Amino acid sequence: MVEKIQNEKIFNWGVATSSYQIEGAHDTDGRGPSVWDVFSHTKGRVKNGDTGDIACDHYNKFYEDIILMKDLGVNSYRFSVSWPRIFPIGTEQKINQKGMDFYDRLVDMLLENNITPFLTLNHWDMPQGLEDLGGWTNRETIEHFVKYGHYMSRRLGDRVIDWITHNEPWCISFLGYIEGLKPPGLKNEWAKSLHTAHHLLLSHGKVIPEIKSNAKDSKVGITLNLNTAIPASNSEHDKKACDFYDVQFNKLYLEPLYNQKYPELLFKSLLQKNLIKQSDLTFVKAGDLETVATKTDFLGVNYYSRGVIRSNEIEEEINDKPIVDLGPKTDFGWEIYPQGLYDLLKRLQVEYNVQNIIITENGCSYSDGPDENKAINDKKRIEYHKSHIKQIQIAINEGIPCTGYFAWSFMDNFEWAEGYSQRFGLIWVDFETLERIPKESYYWYQNFIKSKEMSAFNERK
Ligand code: FCB
Repeated sequence: MVEKIQNEKIFNWGVATSSYQIEGAHDTDGRGPSVWDVFSHTKGRVKNGDTGDIACDHYNKFYEDIILMKDLGVNSYRFSVSWPRIFPIGTEQKINQKGMDFYDRLVDMLLENNITPFLTLNHWDMPQGLEDLGGWTNRETIEHFVKYGHYMSRRLGDRVIDWITHNEPWCISFLGYIEGLKPPGLKNEWAKSLHTAHHLLLSHGKVIPEIKSNAKDSKVGITLNLNTAIPASNSEHDKKACDFYDVQFNKLYLEPLYNQKYPELLFKSLLQKNLIKQSDLTFVKAGDLETVATKTDFLGVNYYSRGVIRSNEIEEEINDKPIVDLGPKTDFGWEIYPQGLYDLLKRLQVEYNVQNIIITENGCSYSDGPDENKAINDKKRIEYHKSHIKQIQIAINEGIPCTGYFAWSFMDNFEWAEGYSQRFGLIWVDFETLERIPKESYYWYQNFIKSKEMSAFNERK
């Protein structure tokens, strides 16, 4: 049997991916349809009609991919499990053995190569069978998720120490029910959005003891996408918009997890704007908040950019002029603002006293591709990672407890509603031939991990 890796002192230098974005093999070995299969096959949902049917075909090429990871020199790899490979519909009592076997092999191979697996249970691709019953708006989904977490930790708990319950609940709750950009693709359904957020958080709290009892010495956390937000101008409208943004984006998750309460301002604003009714707010049952706030071992943070918030309740011409100097943008149009990562880490320490933070995603989209010699000179990506890692270094020097950094992403992949049009990888993927070509940033990261610069992160722990 392959031994688990346990080394408290080591800073986790890793890369991250997620199941639907890389695996492909959408109907192989008994896998059922996920919400993303249905969404991506619905006309008009994803750019160019792209789907994750094949993606990077990692399901069949994981061996090759782990060799590339080994050469890269990372000591950790964050991946997610495709829930419908384990429970094809979601409501079954028995697992799909072949799906489970895939992750068993993956974990073994990672450990054989001295790479610590960080396993995320839910990176959005829930079984469509559960969505058909109301998805995360249905409180019963929690029990199905806990059952799934139970079986995963029972099978892999002897080798996987690091578990992440959910990835970015905001994206499911807000982008899925307010913006319609992710499954189930609904718009302005505030009540459903809040129920979804609460049920995700509650299922997180409920699955923790399950994992802990099956996986000895395990460490369990949740990953949130957070940022620091500032108003675009000094106008009262922008300040108000910024406060609202902060409660719905950051505090809706941080407050219940760390302070056992929901931010009142959010509910008050939504009631005032007639976006919800008082009767929509009965979803928090006795004992729920205690469960949501179950102690975790780390907080996973995904950071890409800051928020510069402009009110949409006042016409642009009569609002004050924006005063914030915006930095350059990536190909996705996201502003590059490394200091925001430091500001965020500081806030998590000062306001929430978070004891262990792991950057579970940070990266950028640039389209640089291979030249005639198959070299990919993605300088801007190198600068992006360097400048963000530098901010982590500053934070660590000030005693902020950050213990890991995962570059998003190991390789180019299916970028949700953007399909294959946005490339975040350290490795180029040719989506016709599925060939993988390491970019300059891959070699930079390889050297960085080997360098003295990086050992400083360990010493400070
Ligand atoms: C995050 C997601 C990840 C990827 C990056 C670019 O919100 O967690 O899957 O799409 O953005």
